[in-house]
Amino acid sequence: MTMGQTDLFSAAGEGAPDADAATRRAVRAAAAEGLLRADKRLPAWLLYDARGSALFEEITELPEYYPTRTERAILAAHAGEMIEAAGLPVAVAELGAGTASKTRLLLAALLERQPRAVYVPIDVSPTALAIAEHALARFAGLAVHPMVGRYPEDLAVLDAIPGRRLLLFLGSNLGNYDPQPAAALLAAVRSHLRPGDAFLIGTDLRKAGGVLVPAYDDAAGVTARFNKNVLVRLNRELGADFDPQAFRHLVRWNSAASRVELYLQSARDQQVHLRALDAAVRFTAGERIHTESSYKFTRAGLRALFRGAGFRWERSWEDPRRWFAMHLLRVPARALR
Ligand code: AVI
Repeated sequence: MTMGQTDLFSAAGEGAPDADAATRRAVRAAAAEGLLRADKRLPAWLLYDARGSALFEEITELPEYYPTRTERAILAAHAGEMIEAAGLPVAVAELGAGTASKTRLLLAALLERQPRAVYVPIDVSPTALAIAEHALARFAGLAVHPMVGRYPEDLAVLDAIPGRRLLLFLGSNLGNYDPQPAAALLAAVRSHLRPGDAFLIGTDLRKAGGVLVPAYDDAAGVTARFNKNVLVRLNRELGADFDPQAFRHLVRWNSAASRVELYLQSARDQQVHLRALDAAVRFTAGERIHTESSYKFTRAGLRALFRGAGFRWERSWEDPRRWFAMHLLRVPARALR
C-alpha cells in the first residue's frame, strides 16, 4: 500500500495500543515509502497520535502561534454574520472538528437565530469528539451527532444530513496539504454537498517569514517536541530505535512555494533500525526528514482554488492585521464555467 498525499490526516489514529489495523498498516507504509529513499520525508498525519494531538493543543496556546487565536477572534467578531450569510435554517457539520472549541462561537450564534440545530463533528479522534460532546451538552436545542471518521474517505456521512448544510473546515488545516491534494480534497468535499449548501473555511495568509518561522519554532520548544514525537511514534509502533536527541527541529520559510517547512535534521552520522520493516536507515550528519508543510495562501490563489473545486466565493472575513481569512463558499445551482 502506498500513502498518497490525498490521504493526509486520514490515517491519523489515536496511536498504539488503540490504533486500528488500517492505521498500523498506513504507518508502516508511510515509513517504508518515506524513509527508504534519498529525500526522506514522512506524511504530516503521522504527527497526530494521542501525544502529538495533545502537543498540538499546547501549540495553539503559544504566544508565537498566532493562527488559532486569530481565527478565534474573527469568529468572535463575526459569527452571527457568518451564520446569516450561510442562510437559515441550516445543519452544521465540521471536518477535523477536534474538541470544537472555536466552533462553539458559531453554534451559539446559530442557536440565537434558530432554536434547534444539528451539529455533526467529524474527526479521527474519539477522545476529542467526547470532549466536544461534553462541552456542547449545555447548548439547549443542539443535537450533536459525533462521527469518528477520516476524510476524504468518510465524506459520505454528509449525504445523510437533511436540508441545507453548512460545512466547516477551520484552522487552516487545508494548509497542510500540497497544492494538488488540496484541490482534490476540496473537489471531494464539493461532490458531497448539494446546491445551496455553504462551506466555511479558515485559511492562514502569506506574511513575513519573520512572523512565520517563530510560530513554528517557539521559544518554549513545544513545536520541537511535537515534531520529534513522530520518531517516538515510530519507535513504539514499528519497533524502531530512533534517538530523538540525535535529531534537531528545523524550520524553513520556503517563499517560492509559499510554505513553512518542518524538518528533523540528523545531528550526526547514524543508522536507525526499523524492526517492523526489517530495514536499517542511514543518516549522514545534517541530513533531513521533511515532516510537515504549512502553506500560506494568497487571496488570489484561494479564489482560484475554490473556483477550480466548483465553489462560488461569496464573502471573506479577516482580522485587522490581515493575517488570517475565513471564507464563505456556496455550492452553485449550476456548475461554474
Ligand atoms: C494543523 N495545522 C493547521 C497546523 C499548522 O499551522 O500548519 C499544524 C502545526 N504544525 C506545527 N505547528 C502547527
